[in-house]
Amino acid sequence: MQIIDGKATAKTIKAEIAEEVKSMVQQGKKPPHLAAVLVGHDGGSETYVAYKIKDCEEVGFKSTLVRYEDDVTEEVLLDKIAELNDDDDLDGFIVQLPLPGHISEQKIIEAIDPGKDVDGFHPENVGKTVIGLPSLLSATPYGIIELLKRYQVETSGKNCVVVGRSNIVGRPLSILMSQKSINATVTVAHSRTKDLKKVCAEADILIAALGSPEFIKADMVKDGAIVIDVGTTRVKSSETKSGFRLKGDVAYDEVAPKCSYITPVPGGVGPMTRVSLLLNTLKAAKA
Ligand code: GUN
Repeated sequence: MQIIDGKATAKTIKAEIAEEVKSMVQQGKKPPHLAAVLVGHDGGSETYVAYKIKDCEEVGFKSTLVRYEDDVTEEVLLDKIAELNDDDDLDGFIVQLPLPGHISEQKIIEAIDPGKDVDGFHPENVGKTVIGLPSLLSATPYGIIELLKRYQVETSGKNCVVVGRSNIVGRPLSILMSQKSINATVTVAHSRTKDLKKVCAEADILIAALGSPEFIKADMVKDGAIVIDVGTTRVKSSETKSGFRLKGDVAYDEVAPKCSYITPVPGGVGPMTRVSLLLNTLKAAKA
């Protein structure tokens, strides 16, 4: 069994990005600039956005944090998005989700200029991804594909089961896994799938993206399978400084011994999602 080390891979990619930024600046170009819009004080969102800003600093990007309280109106947010769309100094931006219930996330996503949509959530980017055109790819699927490539995992002709059909992860990932460069045979499983255990146990590549801690048990995994754990549920913990720790969707201790490859949580997919946002911002800056 080999652990797929997302943390180390992300570090390598960050060093590659930092080199590229250095050479852009040496050529007299401005460094890429990413903005993050954060609404309210959700603990998870605060943490993720802080990481995104820190990542920018580490690779030499400029970053801007735009904050609003929970009671911000949709109109104010849409005005801000229009301003960010028009800001020539800014290459890309994200609006951290979830948003408060009175704001339509879909309306916000659709207001973002697709060329600056470094989350890859805009329908234009999703549509381009589906038909295999160059696009800004949703960060988590992008990170997973990059991990599989860098570990030279054989995907062609493999039976891939994606558990979860979210717009951000499961759905786009299922599309990417079936594309010509990857060539897997893909099944998308979800909460209404019949005999989920059997479906999962037939997977050569099992991708767990349902957001349910330790849902995937050993009896759902085929011997020698490649297991990618996208789960990042924050659970209370007395053992960490923050008072929280991350739990994956895979019962790691019982599943890992059966796998040929597995991603841990933390240190697997998470760091690759973060680095993919940087890759998208670099791509947007170069476009
Ligand atoms: N909330 C959870 N994951 C994400 C993400 O990748 N992007 C944004 N904007 N919000 C999120």
